Amino acid sequence: MKLIDYGVREDEKKYIQEWSQANDIEVTIVSDLLTPETVQLAKGYDGIIAYQQLPYDEKVFDVMNEFGIHVISLRNVGVDNVPIAALKKNGIRLTNVPSYSPEAIAEYSVTGLMALLRNLKHMIRKVDKHDFQWAPDIGRELNELTVGVAGTGRIGRAAIKIYQGFGAKVIAFDKFHNPDIEKQGLYVDSLDTLLKESDVVTLHIPSLGKGHTVINSKTIAEMKDDAIVVNTARGDLINTQDLYEAVADGKLYGAVLDVYENEVGIFNSDLSDQEFSDRLLENVIKSPRFILTPHIAFYTTKAVKNMATISLDSMVSELNNGTSENEINLDK
Ligand code: COI
Repeated sequence: MKLIDYGVREDEKKYIQEWSQANDIEVTIVSDLLTPETVQLAKGYDGIIAYQQLPYDEKVFDVMNEFGIHVISLRNVGVDNVPIAALKKNGIRLTNVPSYSPEAIAEYSVTGLMALLRNLKHMIRKVDKHDFQWAPDIGRELNELTVGVAGTGRIGRAAIKIYQGFGAKVIAFDKFHNPDIEKQGLYVDSLDTLLKESDVVTLHIPSLGKGHTVINSKTIAEMKDDAIVVNTARGDLINTQDLYEAVADGKLYGAVLDVYENEVGIFNSDLSDQEFSDRLLENVIKSPRFILTPHIAFYTTKAVKNMATISLDSMVSELNNGTSENEINLDK
């Protein structure tokens, strides 16, 4: 069996190499993304593993079919950048890593929130300038707040545990009820109710597709005054302009954004020497009421190792058994 792994970062390499040695399976590591050009490197291989934020080009899958490669394993969870129809047309199976570390994302949700509640961004900026005054950066306490968790999949459930540990009142919404969360009586009947009743709304749902936002001027109007939005899920769940204005106008307290609707090409790039043309993002970065980070909630040693090795395990299972526990149902 010969595998080829695309879009590999330096921090992932050692885990892939260790897996390759332990399993005695050849894995070629490619730092380039998977494109209609680079897919040519896959000729003669049995399976492709990849991760990238840029959309996968449909032509990649025509070439895979030509080369007789019928499985692609992603190292991440989200499949919103995969043209599913092109995979189906070419008879290609797809796996992801649905659970590399739900705790990594959940812990980051509360990390960002605590930083915002204690005004850490502004306080640190002040201290950097040797301004050691307390005011006006008085904090708020999580144990006094109602946290609304949107989405009770693995990440949402991990977040619920942590928020409860801090003494917050937790409510939740999901179309599909989880028995444990149901037993605890945390579910409210709609996303609207969740937005209306929460001091903090933390999003743990997949993208709903372009233009389908959960947080926008209409829904913000229904939210509590001084509420906070935390998004570690997908940038397109939020109309960032509407959110920015709501915070600037004092309707909302602030937001923690680890994802951003136009992040592709910006996040995980060093643009420090370049002209920056995204005014909205610039405003968000400047505001003390936004904690903006470049999609790092997942970025822990445990998660990165799991992403690298679970995607490879899934590939082996697909090639040996024709399926794997992480195969995605393309008809859903
Ligand atoms: C995903 O797994 O889909 C993520 O959002 C994390 C990614 C940046 C590796």
